[in-house]
Amino acid sequence: MKVRWAARRRAWHPVLMTGFSTRQLHAGERADQGVTPRVTPIFLTSGFEIDNFDAAGDLFAGGDGYSYTRVGNPTATAVERRIADLEGGAEAILVGSGQAAVAVALLGLVQAGQHVVSAEHIYEGTRGFFLDNLAPLGIETDFVHNINDPAEWERLIRPTTRVLFAESIANPRNEILDIEAIAAVARAHGIPLVVDSTFATPYLVRPLEHGADLVVHSASKFLAGHGAVLGGVIVDNGAFDAARSGDLFPQFAAPTRTGGPSLVDRVGGRARIVYLRDVMALRFGPTPSPFNAFLINQGIETLSLRVQRQSDNALGVARWLQAQPEVESVDYSGLESHPDHALAQRYLPNGQGSVYSFTLRGGLEAARALVNTLEVFTHMTNLGDVRSLILHPGTTSHNQRSDEQLDRTGIRAGTLRLSIGIEDLPDLIADLDRGLAAVRALSI
Ligand SMILES: Cc1ncc(COP(=O)(O)O)c(C=O)c1O
Repeated sequence: MKVRWAARRRAWHPVLMTGFSTRQLHAGERADQGVTPRVTPIFLTSGFEIDNFDAAGDLFAGGDGYSYTRVGNPTATAVERRIADLEGGAEAILVGSGQAAVAVALLGLVQAGQHVVSAEHIYEGTRGFFLDNLAPLGIETDFVHNINDPAEWERLIRPTTRVLFAESIANPRNEILDIEAIAAVARAHGIPLVVDSTFATPYLVRPLEHGADLVVHSASKFLAGHGAVLGGVIVDNGAFDAARSGDLFPQFAAPTRTGGPSLVDRVGGRARIVYLRDVMALRFGPTPSPFNAFLINQGIETLSLRVQRQSDNALGVARWLQAQPEVESVDYSGLESHPDHALAQRYLPNGQGSVYSFTLRGGLEAARALVNTLEVFTHMTNLGDVRSLILHPGTTSHNQRSDEQLDRTGIRAGTLRLSIGIEDLPDLIADLDRGLAAVRALSI
């Protein structure tokens, strides 16, 4: 797992460098200080010096090593290996944001004239990507409403469908994906199931273990965990089956543009992820800053502690909210009353995550009064932070949806989305209690 790098042995003050301008560039550099940092350092450099003339040729012919940060960087590599390991995948790619992860994965799998089937209840940015970005490229998307009905997925699959897409825990109704059932549909058609597992993280569920082929994350959320940086990850199971699906995906299985051996010939089952890295991410260029990669790596080191605490707090808050007269409903799969509670117990036995919605009986005015009263919760659009956050989806993240679509999605005027943090549970409840007092005061 360790990323190793070679320390260069050069003098602090090269004797051949006498001019001021030369020395301000080279003096003090590259001395071997004889230390091995315990934490993977931030390799904040656009590129890497190549040892000697012949090593350059080897590197450009695909040999091991680093050349340029858009191609690879040791700080990012450390994150990629760690997340691939935690997800039980073969390989991962770190990119600059969750949206970049979705875009790189999808654009690598579907081409003009082809088709996507996606769960309807997904992150609004991803839905927009399907409708506003893929559609003009000649790639259509159909949306499944009842995400755990394999027959509905089947009905929408066409000969040109190249990917099924869903989220392991969906926003805002907290639906839990029956990964095994939908992966079986994908497998029967020789196409991959891509699961956005941002809300769950590999601590709560590892979709590849349940038959998914690729996992994407917004690392900006729970993986980094502290609300400071953006990042995205694509993880692949490394099991692209050329005998079964080679004809559907010539980008992996056919000879290269210059007549060279196909990716399948070169790397076997890793063809899909190597294509996403070497052709898609490399060319579109959503490279993460090594500084952000460092912070994501630091964040992951406490992932299980944070997500466990967040899930426990989330359940405590959900139980409390459910008992309040001003609250009409609480959509948290950890509650026995949630329609997907049994699925949550099966796929998320350690905890059900910390992002969910609840609806106030008093509608928009009640939502406004509550949000404006809270002090421990931060009012903002993000999730997965160590701090607790709150947002009104109807007037913010979902403001492009028609009333009919909002209704289908389960967002009403009084619906608020929570992302529960690691604060002390009594402080969170006391804050919400103050908020509900403000809601009660409205009707006085
Ligand atoms: C489920 C999900 N996927 C993807 C994204 C996009 O991630 P990013 O904001 O890092 O681009 C988000 C952002 O909120 C998300 O919630």
